[in-house]
Amino acid sequence: MHKDCERIMLTEEQLRARVKEVALEIDKLYEGKRPLVVGILKGSIIFYSDFIRHLTVPVELDFMAVSSYGSGAVSSGKLNIKKDLDRDVKGRDVIIVEDIIDSGFTLANLKVLLSERGAASVRIVTLLNKLERREYDIEPDFNCFDIENEFVIGYGLDYNEHYRSLPYIGILKRSVYEK
Ligand code: PRP
Repeated sequence: MHKDCERIMLTEEQLRARVKEVALEIDKLYEGKRPLVVGILKGSIIFYSDFIRHLTVPVELDFMAVSSYGSGAVSSGKLNIKKDLDRDVKGRDVIIVEDIIDSGFTLANLKVLLSERGAASVRIVTLLNKLERREYDIEPDFNCFDIENEFVIGYGLDYNEHYRSLPYIGILKRSVYEK
């Protein structure tokens, strides 16, 4: 375990098993379709790559990078699109892939945006769901794990761009972010 981890919350084995289970459920739902799978950079990349490799339906891959205007612990204002999709979503069945839903700001806004652009359907799959932190009215269609309000790192998630490549989800020691 990394020295900055308090403890491991989800092991590689737990992640592998649950990601497969959720992916197979989604795969069944999209039988006969060709969904556009939209990864939200950067946190979702590892989940995204593990998730899509369980799909048997043909998929197209695309990515967005977004942030909220302004800073601070509480999201406010409108969504800032740092990198937009390459593909037109009009008439497409879109699956948004996220690593974590916190306040819900990002996904609440993204869902509206992609629907307004004419997507035939927009569903959300998230690896982690921090229900306790929710401020916006948005729920994932598929969720791998409900988690407590802990500072999680690894498997794509970062603290100041560190720890994304850890193969498990760990809880960051308070001493690391409180110093
Ligand atoms: C994280 C996460 C979601 C968002 C969730 O991204 O990947 O996009 O925050 O928070 P919300 O529900 O309060 O909107 P972050 O801005 O940390 O960027 P990153 O994925 O590049 O780490």
